[in-house]
Amino acid sequence: MSTTSVHAGWDARGAHGSLVPPIYATSAYAHSGHASLKALFARESEGFAYSRSGNPTTAVLEQRIAALEGGIGAIAVASGQAATTIALCALLEPGTHVVASSRLYGGTTEFLGDTLVDLQVSWSSVDPWDVDAWRAAIRPETRVVLLESIANPGAELTDLDAISAIAHEHGAVVVVDSTLASPALYRPGEHGADVVVHSATKYLAGHGTTIAGLIVDTGSFDPRRCPERWPRLTTPNERFHVTFADEYEAGGSGLLGFARAKYVTDFGATLPAQSARDVLVGIETLDLRLERISAHAEQIARSLQGAEGIARVNHPSAPGRADAHLAARDFPRGTSGVFSIDLEGGEAAAAAFCDALSVFTLAVNIGDVRSLVCHPATTTHSHLSTEQRAACGVGEGTVRLSIGLEDVDDLLSDLQRGLAAARTARDAGPSGAEPGDAEPGGAERGDAGPGDAAPTDAPGRASVLSGAGASRSRTA
Ligand SMILES: Cc1ncc(COP(=O)(O)O)c(C=O)c1O
Repeated sequence: MSTTSVHAGWDARGAHGSLVPPIYATSAYAHSGHASLKALFARESEGFAYSRSGNPTTAVLEQRIAALEGGIGAIAVASGQAATTIALCALLEPGTHVVASSRLYGGTTEFLGDTLVDLQVSWSSVDPWDVDAWRAAIRPETRVVLLESIANPGAELTDLDAISAIAHEHGAVVVVDSTLASPALYRPGEHGADVVVHSATKYLAGHGTTIAGLIVDTGSFDPRRCPERWPRLTTPNERFHVTFADEYEAGGSGLLGFARAKYVTDFGATLPAQSARDVLVGIETLDLRLERISAHAEQIARSLQGAEGIARVNHPSAPGRADAHLAARDFPRGTSGVFSIDLEGGEAAAAAFCDALSVFTLAVNIGDVRSLVCHPATTTHSHLSTEQRAACGVGEGTVRLSIGLEDVDDLLSDLQRGLAAARTARDAGPSGAEPGDAEPGGAERGDAGPGDAAPTDAPGRASVLSGAGASRSRTA
């Protein structure tokens, strides 16, 4: 893993011996003759024509992440959101259906409930810990099963082996957002995932400098096994004059070929070469960072357990967590630096907590070397309905922590300062019984279910966007 992180995709013995992959700052590429450019556009050869759809620096990143995830190929795109959007658009057509975990990054739930609804794709939301609920939610028109390997913000782990087996029985593709885990902690392809997406903005880049996204084909999906379910991949494409599934013959990914040719190009969701280089440099230290960050996060989560003013610590190490066996079985190196705590006293306590911290920074990002804190109910998950937030484990008193690389004792002292402020706000306010104090989804404290027990047909656009500020520009 650490050797691959440093070397995959780049051979420094090439032109000029540049040890670090150079930034190819060019819009287009010169060709020696008419035939060469013609062959590229006809998909008869590989190479670069125009940087909207490919660049040599981003190609190094694509090879590196494919190697790290054990996949057959990857596409780098402009953001994690673009990675999810493009992966799902390439797999879904009007009239098809997605089964998704109720525990997702808020932006992903918004995409499912708004833009995908525009595209006439329906979806069902299920409790990720209820394996039978996944089975019950699958329909004949289901094409995609979607979940996060470590969920944002409550760090819930999912039995991906079991859920993948169910999805594959029904011919659905398993798409896993593995942003929080990164390949340093978990490789979804080894547990049945067909497609892995990343917000490389987080741990892969690692330093809070860059927005980037990645889509990896793990190599297990082959649309030719059931061509009638995947006509856009298995029949001749009138626009590109190829059948994308034929690209599997040569060891390529027909799915990624289609996604790049159609959606990266049409949406223009290009990753700049400079950003690709930032992510490549970040990946070089991924293994070291994740090892230390995960260990410190677990130490901090354990130390907060039972602290006065905290109703619940949402980390796999918390007593009674139904995913403790998954942490032991599938995540021997830890579960990242992201987890949440539910404070007594609702939003007032959460606000006082965030405002009292000085080592943690109030910011809507995770996976930075700096420790970050935010209040998901009013930021990252603010556009969801109250029910969706509850199913996602986000209450009024929930605060998300992203542990960075600072000294752990400094972080612990800072959190004690925050907790003292939260207790004062709780005791001063009338809000002792605010929704944030309740267990998300109505589960008992430390009990098995993180969200809805049964699959629910997810609400449409109106309720997804019912939160305040829906018409203003997004900040997270
Ligand atoms: C789990 C997860 N997936 C996807 C995204 C979207 O990534 P980006 O902000 O790079 O578009 C985020 C952002 O916070 C995230 O946390």
